[in-house]
Amino acid sequence: MTTPRAAVILAAGKSTRMKSSRSKVLHHVGGRSMLEWVTELARSAGAEKIVCVVGESNADVRAEAENLGLDIAVQEPQLGTAHAVSSAKSALKGFKGNLAILYADTPFVTKQTLNRVYKSLETDTDVTVLGFEPEEPGSYGRLITDKGDLTAIVEAREATPEELAVRLCNSGVVAASVKNMFSALERVDNNNLKGEYYLTDIVKILRSDGKKAKAIIADTEEVMGVNSRVDLAVAEMAFQTRMREAMLINGVTLRDPDTIYFSYDTVIAQDAEIGANVVFGLGVKIAKHAVIHPFCHLEGTKIGEAAQIGPFARLRPGTEMGAGSKAGNFVETKKAKIGKDSKINHLSYIGDAIVGVGANIGAGTITCNYDGYFKHQTVVGDGAFIGSNSSLVAPVKIGKGAYLGSGGVVTKDVPADALAVARAEQVNKSGWAKRYNAAQRKRKAKK
Ligand code: UD1
Ligand code: MG
Repeated sequence: MTTPRAAVILAAGKSTRMKSSRSKVLHHVGGRSMLEWVTELARSAGAEKIVCVVGESNADVRAEAENLGLDIAVQEPQLGTAHAVSSAKSALKGFKGNLAILYADTPFVTKQTLNRVYKSLETDTDVTVLGFEPEEPGSYGRLITDKGDLTAIVEAREATPEELAVRLCNSGVVAASVKNMFSALERVDNNNLKGEYYLTDIVKILRSDGKKAKAIIADTEEVMGVNSRVDLAVAEMAFQTRMREAMLINGVTLRDPDTIYFSYDTVIAQDAEIGANVVFGLGVKIAKHAVIHPFCHLEGTKIGEAAQIGPFARLRPGTEMGAGSKAGNFVETKKAKIGKDSKINHLSYIGDAIVGVGANIGAGTITCNYDGYFKHQTVVGDGAFIGSNSSLVAPVKIGKGAYLGSGGVVTKDVPADALAVARAEQVNKSGWAKRYNAAQRKRKAKK
């Protein structure tokens, strides 16, 4: 049995460098907020209780944390990382187990790494710090070790030249049992250059109690923090690079990986093929052998086996393309269920629609789904043929096997197997053009 696990997510910072009206940790990477990344990380590593520390000024963070089902602790004013964790004390009252401290602006720590942190507390140490070795140790706290034991964390501005030369740095992730953590926090003071309560001081304090401290090393990419929009862009690119690699390794063909953008939840089956310049918004699932041609934008969409999409298609939330179906160039869909082998090959808008199996939707077909107040549904039966440039004024049903003449404005249901012609009948006036042209030429010559 593993020891119960809890996490505290620090998110009370001011994030001024982001230059944003939105709190930093609510900015998105790979389609979800950094706070959600860290929340999912804690959950995936088995944290049963997660407390988010927020400041009074970040009401948006508090709302999002509540939305994510986190417990809230308010830290006001912000007197340092130890003070931040202390403010979560009452939220953790009665919790017996191990506690990891995470930063909401450090979204990429992996489940495996956090697991190792918790595991170390269950096996061989009392306090664990996640370290890394950046190219530029800069202002990170330095981890001072002695024969495998962690003896102290020294903040860069307080370090001696020898300590500053240490490459091993503090990622910010620190873990101990709830009991040890809060016992040490009570003894942290602010007698330092910043006048703040440093969480990092708990290492020295717990060691003076005879407890053992250890560092665990993570990859630098895992612990990259985001402080500015430049960092945010770097984090997004790192995420995309990882997704592209994972897709390729899983057997998805990416024609030009650097131009294909994923969300954290994009699922693509083996042997699907993605052309250049394709963007996957949230909630896309693609079955095997499907082909997404270049320049498509997909969101909230399921693509069936061997379906063909694009080039230049925009599939919006609620789209389900059946196996072998097609949505070609300049086709937009929304809340549309397209049956197996049905085709929407060119220049259409199909919204709030159910299309059966093997139907053909001609070029330029539009579902007129919105009356200015409400949305209405269009149903197209199996094997129906919708002539080019049809307007289907919803709510309307086209029966199975029905045939719509081109250019119709269809306002009434069409029975199965019927032909519907919903346009003015053609009138041919013989000789009219010849007479007209002669008269006009004469007028022009006089001027
Ligand atoms: C901290 C660590 C440092 C480590 C670095 C990694 C301490 C004393 N130092 O330094 O060893 O290398 O992180 O990035 O812990 N926060 C609050 N309330 C506060 C203060 C901070 O919630 O009162 C939050 C911030 O929003 C941020 C995180 O805690 O997410 C870290 O705070 P920050 O001020 O950036 O600490 P650093 O000085 O970078
Ligand atoms: Mg920092």
